[in-house]
Amino acid sequence: MAPETPLPPGSVIGILGGGQLGRMLAMAAAEMGLAVHIFSPPGDNPATDVARSATIAAWDDTAALEAFAAAVDVVTYEFENIPVATAEFLAARKLLRPGVRALAVAQDRMNEKELARSLDIDVPLFAAVDAASELAGARTFVGLGGRHAILKTRRLGYDGKGQAVIRSDDDAAAAWRAIGGVPAILEEMIPFTREISVLVARGIDGSTRAFDVPENRHRHGILDTSTVPASVTPGVARRAIAIGETIAAELDYVGLLAVELFVVGDGDDAALLFNEIAPRVHNSGHWTTDACLVSQFEQHIRAVAGWPLGDPRRHSDVVMTNLIGADAETWVSVANEPDARLHFYGKAESRPGRKMGHVNRIRRMAG
Ligand SMILES: Nc1ncnc2c1ncn2[C@@H]1O[C@H](COP(=O)(O)OP(=O)(O)OP(=O)(O)O)[C@@H](O)[C@H]1O
Ligand SMILES: [Mg+2]
Repeated sequence: MAPETPLPPGSVIGILGGGQLGRMLAMAAAEMGLAVHIFSPPGDNPATDVARSATIAAWDDTAALEAFAAAVDVVTYEFENIPVATAEFLAARKLLRPGVRALAVAQDRMNEKELARSLDIDVPLFAAVDAASELAGARTFVGLGGRHAILKTRRLGYDGKGQAVIRSDDDAAAAWRAIGGVPAILEEMIPFTREISVLVARGIDGSTRAFDVPENRHRHGILDTSTVPASVTPGVARRAIAIGETIAAELDYVGLLAVELFVVGDGDDAALLFNEIAPRVHNSGHWTTDACLVSQFEQHIRAVAGWPLGDPRRHSDVVMTNLIGADAETWVSVANEPDARLHFYGKAESRPGRKMGHVNRIRRMAG
């Protein structure tokens, strides 16, 4: 298939990763007449419940990867910690959208921050810390102005895991131990007024469409709610979206890209600081399923299948709330609420901190 040809209904989308994001991508693909083949290592893979086929194998099982590549028309991913070697192996055999570079950048917080800085996007002060002995020097650097700092593992962090706040010299050694003494990044603590994210899709022709910007609140380091519209001015929202478009263009991106930003201050003069990217559909975009004509999941599938991008217009105000661990036990009352739509991921086991589902509460149908 020529890279610029849209995949017709009946084509097969290969998805790397079998979690809830893959599940919701597979449901969107099914609505478009596209089939999904999941590739994921053994474990709880709720995406396989709703996919046509699945290969459960290790990321380095080249025979399984070879057969998977032969069985699909395009490959995408729902999880950013797939080994780059796996992505390269597949990209040599099939279209991989987004590409290897987006994946590799997103896997390392230093790479992400350096990419943003190279594009003249404002980032918190940061420094690499590869050993406990480097922490003091890095703190002097990011501690300018007496701010607290946050130490994060460069790789494999999610939901606030692998992070420790440093408030004084006494905290430094403990923070290094707390993150497991692995290569890290030290960042200044940003006194943000709010957090927002950009959800921008880029098509194979380089055109982009962005969803409205959600405002995101975290609880215990995990996303709790995404509220749309965000309390930022239209000018700030436009600047945020421009940041997403700049990064997507630089990465020659195809698919849905999420960019997390800190907002400092209020009004049109508010500053935007880059936090991180996710080269995939994102938890802060789950509201799009019930408040937009086209969801982030359909938009991602449209992009990777080479279809024209859909209209991301929002028809309702909405608050998305994650159901984490025991929150999911409230499902009967949530199911009873008017204007609420419940989404469950079908995970086999509930654990504290585990994302089990979410609810989209429609606040007002836009007139
Ligand atoms: N430099 C910072 N200043 C202030 N708060 C921060 C900073 N870095 C992270 N945080 C807070 O911690 C949250 C999680 O951090 P980050 O997004 O870097 O990690 P993560 O583990 O990848 O999270 P997730 O998987 O939820 O996106 C942020 O959304 C923000 O609330
Ligand atoms: Mg984050």
